[in-house]
Amino acid sequence: MKKDNDITLNQLKKRGFIASPIDPTLDLPNAIQKLKKEKNAVLLAHYYQDAAIQELADYLGDSLYLAQQAAKVEADIIVFAGVHFMAETAKIINPTKKVLLPDLKAGCSLADSCPPGDFAAFKAQHPEAIVVTYINCSAEIKALSDLVCTSSNAVKMIESIPKDQEIIFAPDKNLGRYLIKETGRDMILWEGSCIVHEAFSFDKIVALAKQYPKAKFIAHPESESPVLEIAHYVGSTAGLLRFVIEDPSDTYIVATEAGILHEMKKRCPTKTFIPAPVEDDTCACSECAFMKLNTLEKLYNCMVYELPEIILKPELIAAARLPIERMLKLS
Ligand code: 13P
Ligand code: SF4
Repeated sequence: MKKDNDITLNQLKKRGFIASPIDPTLDLPNAIQKLKKEKNAVLLAHYYQDAAIQELADYLGDSLYLAQQAAKVEADIIVFAGVHFMAETAKIINPTKKVLLPDLKAGCSLADSCPPGDFAAFKAQHPEAIVVTYINCSAEIKALSDLVCTSSNAVKMIESIPKDQEIIFAPDKNLGRYLIKETGRDMILWEGSCIVHEAFSFDKIVALAKQYPKAKFIAHPESESPVLEIAHYVGSTAGLLRFVIEDPSDTYIVATEAGILHEMKKRCPTKTFIPAPVEDDTCACSECAFMKLNTLEKLYNCMVYELPEIILKPELIAAARLPIERMLKLS
């Protein structure tokens, strides 16, 4: 997740650099908007960010939309309010821009579940297979891939591959199983998963659905198979949002990271959205702790100091770029 040559504010502090403390009276949203103009920067934010960050975004969306927008940015700086693999993807597809991530520790359990050395060995066991990887993986894994996909276009990407072609799908086994079911393709799966989407409780969702018999249950395809099987609709964050806007029902149980509820409530103010229950009542498990590492303070500091920056070796960018470009062309 974190590269050796990325620089964190903490590392700079250790080298004697002190970031000035933020004036507690500062209007941070206003200051961030000003910095965007002064520095010719564009703010891209994922739906899983805190509402205050979503509100400041120039582009707010799911992984596919944000990758598409990142490729088109003409401004000098891309500030990515999301997780590391998303900022890394922005750097790969628009490498002349400075790409900033407010907190370099904002990783992803799914990306971390696929170490490049192990994956290279796995790939070598299936020399005839085409490698399709979910965008939630490191640049090194993308460099080992033939085609990248997101949850928005995964079915389309798999269907673009000839029927008799062997396919490795990584790193998400849950999305992989869902794709096998949807496309009828028999794929070789890597055993990775997302801690947030695996936390949803099938039994509690069933009990909640009984309490709200008119509610529709909608889920992100990173959730486990039994949860997906009872969903009225399965889709990416943008897909789930589109569904609740277009569907006539008025109550929804939503199995994905709770940050998406902010935009759902904004777009459908008269409807009711209930976050799907998780196994462990004592945790805020339907929130992605990685996504939530980004705060307004860190966003402000990152724009003031233009740090931490995503820095990747040119050879890695060149290798990781091809499968992303193939995806963007096919999307
Ligand atoms: P989306 O493709 O819906 O943006 O999913 C991103 C993600 O990280 C889901 O956990
Ligand atoms: Fe990764 Fe899951 Fe967080 Fe998405 S919700 S960024 S897949 S850990």
